[in-house]
Amino acid sequence: MTDMTVDLGGLEMRTPVATASGTFGYGREYAEMVDYSRIGAITAKGVRMVPWPGNPMPRHCEVPGGLLNAIGLQGPGAEHFVKWTLPQLRALDVPVIANVWGASVEEYAQAAAVLDAAAGVSAIEVNVSCPNVKEGGHTFGSSPRILAETVRAVRAAVKKPLIVKLAPNVPDIAPYIHALEDEGADAVSLINTIPAMAIDIEKRRPVLANRTGGLSGRCVHPAAVKIVYDAYRAGKLPILAMGGVYGPEDAIEFMLAGATAVAVGTATFTDPSTAVRIADGIDRYCGRHGFSAARELTGALLETAP
Ligand SMILES: Cc1cc2nc3c(=O)[nH]c(=O)nc-3n(C[C@H](O)[C@H](O)[C@H](O)COP(=O)(O)O)c2cc1C
Repeated sequence: MTDMTVDLGGLEMRTPVATASGTFGYGREYAEMVDYSRIGAITAKGVRMVPWPGNPMPRHCEVPGGLLNAIGLQGPGAEHFVKWTLPQLRALDVPVIANVWGASVEEYAQAAAVLDAAAGVSAIEVNVSCPNVKEGGHTFGSSPRILAETVRAVRAAVKKPLIVKLAPNVPDIAPYIHALEDEGADAVSLINTIPAMAIDIEKRRPVLANRTGGLSGRCVHPAAVKIVYDAYRAGKLPILAMGGVYGPEDAIEFMLAGATAVAVGTATFTDPSTAVRIADGIDRYCGRHGFSAARELTGALLETAP
């Protein structure tokens, strides 16, 4: 029997497999289909302080090897989430990671404080891939300086484990990891979706009403592995890796590259039991390769070429 437990910056998980924000509803939708005892954590869909309608439709489409979405962070608001959604999530007996965003640094801190104070939230994940109006619409995660400012404000408002979710479209992940370490984050999530676009050539129009969106699914996986590998070597923050995890081999690849745990996103749409299947596969792999604990896989990559 493999010891499957991992510690993600203070968040105790019974397996290293979580669900990714925005792809598992608010958890309860899958109650009939999933063995929650094999899931390490459920990450809820992102919320800000106020209810938010998201973008106009159409807001997602399939692309080769993946999914393009511009949902636009639709959500009921932090207080509604705490009052109405959290009680049902708590009944599943799985640690809940609340995912938070804002339109200003102040709103990030305020929403994070509401979620931090809620019984039943085990950790806070901060999505910094949202436009910062004060900084000309660039995202809060697009420069290490603004990232540091945002994380500092949230850290001051949050006692629970603080995970910051970074975007993949930066030239070098190292300064972002250093900013998170300096500001006291407990872990990093990588990757959010990759900015992308699809065009309907017959209509000569963008497919999505928002014109552009974020790419996820199988096609982003190798890019995500490289970023996780770079992040692991840049610092000491535990990593929650996501991006095209469809089977145990994808999860193990992430862990060998340096991830402490992984999250399943787009794959859940085609097979809701993916996370459970992956936990079982990691367990079998550890047995086959002589690892007594799943946590031993983290960074266990042999660097020499074959
Ligand atoms: C439909 C959809 C909605 C998403 N919503 C959120 C969200 O609210 N907050 C967030 O931080 N990430 C969100 N994400 C990003 C995912 O959590 C994940 O980082 C990304 O999709 C890469 O993983 P995957 O390839 O396994 O899907 C969303 C992704 C999709 C596909």
